Amino acid sequence: EQVQKGPYEHYMLKEIHEQPLTLRNTMAGRIDGGNRIVLPEIPLTEQELQRIEKMYIVACGTAYHAGLVGKFAIESLTRIPVEIDIASEFRYRDPIVSDNTLVIVVSQSGETADTIAALQESQRRGAKVLAVTNVAGSTIARQADYVLATKAGPEIAVASTKAYTAQLLAFELLALYFAQTLRTLDDETRSSLVDGIKQLPHQVEKLLANADEIKWFAESILDRRSVFFIGRGLDYAVALEASLKLKEISYIHSEAYAAGELKHGSLALVEEGTPVIALVTHQQLFEKTVSNIKEAKARGARVMGVTVDGNVELLDSVDEACFIPRTHQLFAPILAVVPMQLLSYYTSLALGNDIDKPRNLAKSVTVE
Ligand code: G6P
Repeated sequence: EQVQKGPYEHYMLKEIHEQPLTLRNTMAGRIDGGNRIVLPEIPLTEQELQRIEKMYIVACGTAYHAGLVGKFAIESLTRIPVEIDIASEFRYRDPIVSDNTLVIVVSQSGETADTIAALQESQRRGAKVLAVTNVAGSTIARQADYVLATKAGPEIAVASTKAYTAQLLAFELLALYFAQTLRTLDDETRSSLVDGIKQLPHQVEKLLANADEIKWFAESILDRRSVFFIGRGLDYAVALEASLKLKEISYIHSEAYAAGELKHGSLALVEEGTPVIALVTHQQLFEKTVSNIKEAKARGARVMGVTVDGNVELLDSVDEACFIPRTHQLFAPILAVVPMQLLSYYTSLALGNDIDKPRNLAKSVTVE
């Protein structure tokens, strides 16, 4: 069936605006009346999960960035150690994978060659493989032992948006599900986290209603040579995805740095007017990141901060700020990435690039 752009100029913009719906679809039927997570497609028992000594998340591109958030969520809710690797690296490093390892592969298309190879290598070594994928019937969906489907619908634009937020949500549900099975989380905490999940589609709607606000910042980075994204913890994971989005479609050089690492290298590149986009949604790390913002500002950076509603004190340290609705820390990436998607879209639009089909890139990479 032919997917239409409707009133949108590009598939990417349409897909950004579909996110409230695709998040709703991805959680539909997976939360019961008692705020318990229901995933019959992953019939791992408490005993089987207890045998798992380590999980491995393996993916490419945007799906790898979703995995970074997945690692954080699974480790913090279950205390099971999670390693993460890029699929094209994993298979050549003689990975330490056995039948006590659960390997989670993430792939929008389910057809990425390196991810398929990582799945097969893991199974050869005795591990069970759980696939988070958006395409039912894809190679990865068919070969995995368990499939957690994201329900983002067909994604046409090469730059992934709605598939990424669906992957993030899938990881949140998965982490909660494992924690529920292993009883590493009390019922009250789980229930309040699930309440937070239920609010996400509406919160994304609120962000999208103010989509135009991001245009002024896009204007200011058009003619810049480099853009830097910084953040700590989960904000760093979002910074990596934001930077990828920008370079994919605007062709402006960008880098993402863990905020504390800035002074170990990238700070040398900051000069008068260099745009620095600081993600500051981690409440406990707020002051730490603000001190990194000050380091950049002292070298002339023009800083845009992304933080949560109420953190008005950030305005003292940045040139512009963008606020996202309040949510649990684990879910902040799902909201914080939305203005970043819009930023890359509007930048690319103003530059006149082919937004849905950027040069040199393919939607699905089926060669190794
Ligand atoms: C390509 C796409 C990216 C995607 C990556 C992994 O590079 O352009 O948007 O993140 O492949 O694709 P997958 O289908 O495995 O998620």
